[in-house]
Amino acid sequence: MTEPIIRISKVNKSYGTGKARNQVLYDIDLNIKSGESVSIVGTSGSGKTTLLNIIGGLDRRYDGSCIVNNKKIEKMSEKQLSRFRNETIGFVFQSFNLMEHLTSWENVALSSYFKGCKIKGNYVQKRAVEVLERVELNDKINAYPPNLSGGQKQRVAIARALFNNPDILLCDEPTGNLDSKTGKNVIELFHELNIEDKITVIVITHEERVSKGTDRSIQLEDGKILSINTKTAPVK
Ligand SMILES: Nc1ncnc2c1ncn2[C@@H]1O[C@H](COP(=O)(O)OP(=O)(O)OP(=O)(O)O)[C@@H](O)[C@H]1O
Ligand SMILES: [Mg+2]
Repeated sequence: MTEPIIRISKVNKSYGTGKARNQVLYDIDLNIKSGESVSIVGTSGSGKTTLLNIIGGLDRRYDGSCIVNNKKIEKMSEKQLSRFRNETIGFVFQSFNLMEHLTSWENVALSSYFKGCKIKGNYVQKRAVEVLERVELNDKINAYPPNLSGGQKQRVAIARALFNNPDILLCDEPTGNLDSKTGKNVIELFHELNIEDKITVIVITHEERVSKGTDRSIQLEDGKILSINTKTAPVK
């Protein structure tokens, strides 16, 4: 672990304007090192998703500075931002967001149709299969989402996030729709990706079991960092 891969300073974020203005993040300062695993916890509405969207370059309408992989999010053009997201970030959501009429590998390969993909046409299917094998879905490469379990759907979504070999995985309640055993398997996979593949993992969670397994846990409350807990003992 060396230089911070994410440097957030004095980030303030509001939605709306005038009387309807609602400030949801206040003076957030946070550095995350390359290779770290970090959880973000806090009650509903505390600003977790808003913060993750800023880190991932999905939202540039904030004050302050957010530097990811030495790039200032707020200074990038739309084109640069889209390329940055493609090259640096993998997103995983609670609701999987898979296309039902596409097979697992087609869902994974879909991002290659968008600009900024590093992988050439001939290699797209090969790479999709490779990442599906990485998440142990060797036998579901040609399956359609309705024929997959929740855990398998989330693995397809994780494979999709891995397709472009990201430096950072941003996960918004990735186990929120899974039963506890399946959720545990998905969390073990994130742990593996963090330790073996050296991917920086940031995960929003409501589950203590998940937050206790990360190197640091950031607690947000009413748009402010209330506490930062560092892991002291290995989690069973
Ligand atoms: N697009 C939006 N427009 C206006 N207000 C928004 C928007 N997105 C979020 N908010 C508001 O910002 C605040 C923080 O929302 P955010 O989604 O970041 O919370 P959260 O911590 O992720 O909550 P949850 O645990 O329920 O997902 C909330 O008060 C929410 O109503
Ligand atoms: Mg949220």
